Amino acid sequence: MNTPTIAIIGLGYVGLPLAVAFAKKYPVIGFDINKNRIGQLQEAFDMTLEIEHTQLKSVNVSSLKELENAEKGLFSTANLDDISKATIFIVTVPTPVDKNHKPDLTPLYKASETVSKVLKKGDIVIFESTVYPGATEDECVPILEKGSGLVFNKDFYAGYSPERINPGDKEHTVEKILKVTSGSTPEIAEQIDQLYKNVIIAGTFKASSIKVAEAAKVIENSQRDINIAFINELSKIFNLMDIDTNEVLEAAATKWNFINFSPGLVGGHCIGVDPYYLADKALELGYNPEIILSGRRLNDSMGPFVARETVKLMIKKDIPVKTSKILVMGITFKEDCPDIRNSRVIDVINELKSFDIQVAVFDPWANKEEVKEEYGIALFSDKNELANDYNAVILAVSHKKFKNFEFNNYTSSPFVLYDVKGMLPKEASDGRL
Ligand SMILES: NC(=O)c1ccc[n+]([C@@H]2O[C@H](COP(=O)([O-])OP(=O)(O)OC[C@H]3O[C@@H](n4cnc5c(N)ncnc54)[C@H](O)[C@@H]3O)[C@@H](O)[C@H]2O)c1
Repeated sequence: MNTPTIAIIGLGYVGLPLAVAFAKKYPVIGFDINKNRIGQLQEAFDMTLEIEHTQLKSVNVSSLKELENAEKGLFSTANLDDISKATIFIVTVPTPVDKNHKPDLTPLYKASETVSKVLKKGDIVIFESTVYPGATEDECVPILEKGSGLVFNKDFYAGYSPERINPGDKEHTVEKILKVTSGSTPEIAEQIDQLYKNVIIAGTFKASSIKVAEAAKVIENSQRDINIAFINELSKIFNLMDIDTNEVLEAAATKWNFINFSPGLVGGHCIGVDPYYLADKALELGYNPEIILSGRRLNDSMGPFVARETVKLMIKKDIPVKTSKILVMGITFKEDCPDIRNSRVIDVINELKSFDIQVAVFDPWANKEEVKEEYGIALFSDKNELANDYNAVILAVSHKKFKNFEFNNYTSSPFVLYDVKGMLPKEASDGRL
């Protein structure tokens, strides 16, 4: 096979690192509908902070012409015509849920439509977005066929290779994580597997079908969600017994087969979302996925629980609740990354507000404008902006930057400190999950 030109559709947390990895060996055209993002990428700036400026600069190519004359490199564009040269399309667009937790496949439909307009005989379309088993062949392929007038598995082919990256994790980067691959025919599966093998240092696992690969991804995250839900439930039980959950987990983890998870808020656009994709498909098939959905409910109850526990601790210290000011530290969905999407810290904040508490939110990682737009909150990103009389502090996200925070400089006396993730030594806080 001649060196293919690869188009990556959707240059977000998943698409950009993948595009950069492929661009070290192949000519890659990165396509995104967000012109602002494309402008920044052309200047070698990645606002997700997954790819450093120097790394992006080293693969960046400034024009399509330059890419055509090169063996490798990345050209980012928002212009559909630019991707028509590609023979392999990799789709990495979001797969969110709507407010009723129903899968929203709109970005995937739109991206399939986009690709269908430039699809040619012999091309391969690989989907990486997390979906339920069957979505690639039942939902996306018909759009590709309709838009292109080509016939699936005769004129063009499909594949699915789920992404396992973990935003903010500088150790488990895309090339270092074993990648599951699959294809719509045995030959195409092999071709796709070889393609990824060329860039994924950790190697690949060729699944027996697209559906198997789709299912493998969605259960990885569902399993994690359920495991955390169990630990969160234990945390609620141990709280009633006045037992510290972290100490119990530390003791239990000394058994060789104890599976270690810690309690916490489960947000983001993977763990807190993907189980709904599997659950929705199961419901459609007439099966009620009790464990998956009860895990989701339990995890979604943790934000209000944290807020109420903090209020109880304030009452115990005779701190008036109604007129109080609480500082919530962290709004991102996880530590040490700027991603605020589906952060469950908002549940803590909303529950506190229901007690008429004034809530200030501080996060040096998050973007002020994004937080304003997504949650309507005026974020503090510099500690010099904070007041010095908060009645309670909730350490909601365990950013490393919070490790040596001088709580006393920002609080009145007495105050309550609730350490959601148990980031501090036990005696340093009044409560933790
Ligand atoms: N972020 C993660 O850690 C992670 C890990 C594994 C899997 N996933 C899955 O990967 C997929 C992508 O997630 P993400 O975090 O990279 O999302 P993201 O929101 O960071 O990026 C998606 C990008 O796609 C672009 N886009 C949306 N619709 C488009 C279209 N029709 N055409 C072209 N571009 C379009 C957006 O502008 C955005 O830049 C999702 O299915 C997600 O569940 C994410």
